[in-house]
Formats: sequence, structure tokens, C-alpha cells
Amino acid sequence: MENTQAKVQRKPVRLIAAACNDMGIGKDGKMPWSLPSEFQWFLNKVTGVSRPGKFNMVVWGKLCWFSHPQSTFPLPNTLHAVLSSTLDSPPDHAHFVCSDLEAVVHLAGTPPLADLIETIWIVGGMQVYKEALQHRWCDLVYLTKVMADFDCDVFFPEFDRELFKLQEGFPGVPSEIQEEEGVKYQFQVFKRETGDKA
Ligand SMILES: NC(=O)c1ccc[n+]([C@@H]2O[C@H](COP(=O)([O-])OP(=O)(O)OC[C@H]3O[C@@H](n4cnc5c(N)ncnc54)[C@H](OP(=O)(O)O)[C@@H]3O)[C@@H](O)[C@H]2O)c1
Repeated sequence: MENTQAKVQRKPVRLIAAACNDMGIGKDGKMPWSLPSEFQWFLNKVTGVSRPGKFNMVVWGKLCWFSHPQSTFPLPNTLHAVLSSTLDSPPDHAHFVCSDLEAVVHLAGTPPLADLIETIWIVGGMQVYKEALQHRWCDLVYLTKVMADFDCDVFFPEFDRELFKLQEGFPGVPSEIQEEEGVKYQFQVFKRETGDKA
């Protein structure tokens, strides 16, 4: 009998975040700091594709989506999925509303999107990061270490640093400490050491 259930193509699930000394990432629905070059790093990552015609799927929690300056959009080479149980349709500039990360993984890995999508980028907030860190296809965490104290009310989730190992000399990632607006920060990448290879 023919199998009509399409297999879900594996797309890498990658997180990108910046966290300060106590792992704070947000305050009052906004970023606690203004670091334009660090934001440009984020934009370069999520819009980077191997060739024209390819796209990345960018996954946002609802608050994170609405906290972002809409002047940022549209972003090249990206499709945007907002996670929400309450939105009926995608907000301006977004393409999809999904109920959870698994729904996005399924959407990105099955036709018609499967041949277009390269990477699923998880861009926050906290609940989305938490779900993504548990996902079997999550292989890399790009976490900028902001070397300063900021008052925050949202935090990057604890994660297993034996499972996700800090990389040294990761390709394309400057190792030297950056400084902007009087704030020092360092780009870091954590790579999943084990996990299912399906
Ligand atoms: N420093 C950084 O790198 C960084 C990155 C991103 C965000 N931030 C900051 O983080 C804050 C926003 O994050 P947040 O954690 O408060 O909110 P959030 O995760 O962006 O949004 C929460 C809402 O999104 C929906 N949602 C989130 N995860 C979901 C999931 N797994 N499944 C289904 N729905 C989901 C729910 O909406 P419904 O109620 O509609 O179901 C939930 O109420 C802001 O301050 C922002 O500036 C910082």
C-alpha cells in the first residue's frame, strides 16, 4: 500500500540570543540594551542562506514578534512563523501562525516548503527557546555573552552544557571580545554533542 504520509525532512533548528551576566534577555517586553552591531550579527545569521532562492524559517514568540521594530521588515531570504494559541492570522510581515515549534518543523520539512527552507532559526522569547533546546534537531545555540548587568524580567533558560558544548574557533564566529556603547560582549556558539541522527 502506498504511504501517503510525507516524511518530514530534517531542517537544522538553531537558536540565537544575547544574554547578560545573569542570563537576562528582556525587560518590559523590550531588549534591555541597544547594541546595533550585535543586532546586525543577528540579522546576518537569520538571513544567511547558501544560494538565491533559498529561505530560512524564523520562529518568534508572539511578544517577541510584537516587541520588534516593524521597520526591520521585510527581511531578505526569510519566512516568519509566530507561535501563538490566540492569533487567528499572521501579523503584518509574518507568514504563518503556528501552535508550537513541532508544527513549524513539520511545515518547513514537508512540501511545498521543504525544498526552499534551509534552517529554522529560533529567535525567542523564553518559552520558545525552552521548547527549542529540547528539540532533537536543535544542533547549535548562538548565544552572545553580554558582559554587563542589566535589569531584566525575562531570562534565557538553563540548558545542559554537557549536551551543548561551548565551541572554540567556530567557523565564521569572531572570538575576540567586542565593545559597543561602552558594553563588552562576546559571540559564543554551543554545539549539541549527541542526539538522534534521524
Ligand atoms: N536578548 C535576546 O536575544 C532576546 C531575544 C528574543 C526576545 N527577547 C526579549 O524577550 C521578551 C519576550 O519574550 P517572552 O518570553 O516574554 O515572550 P514570547 O515567548 O516572545 O511570547 C510569549 C507568547 O508567545 C506565544 N508562545 C510562545 N512560545 C510558544 C510556544 N512554544 N508554543 C505556543 N505559543 C507560544 C504565546 O502566545 P499566546 O498567548 O498567543 O498563546 C505566549 O504568550 C522581550 O523582552 C524581548 O525583547 C530578547
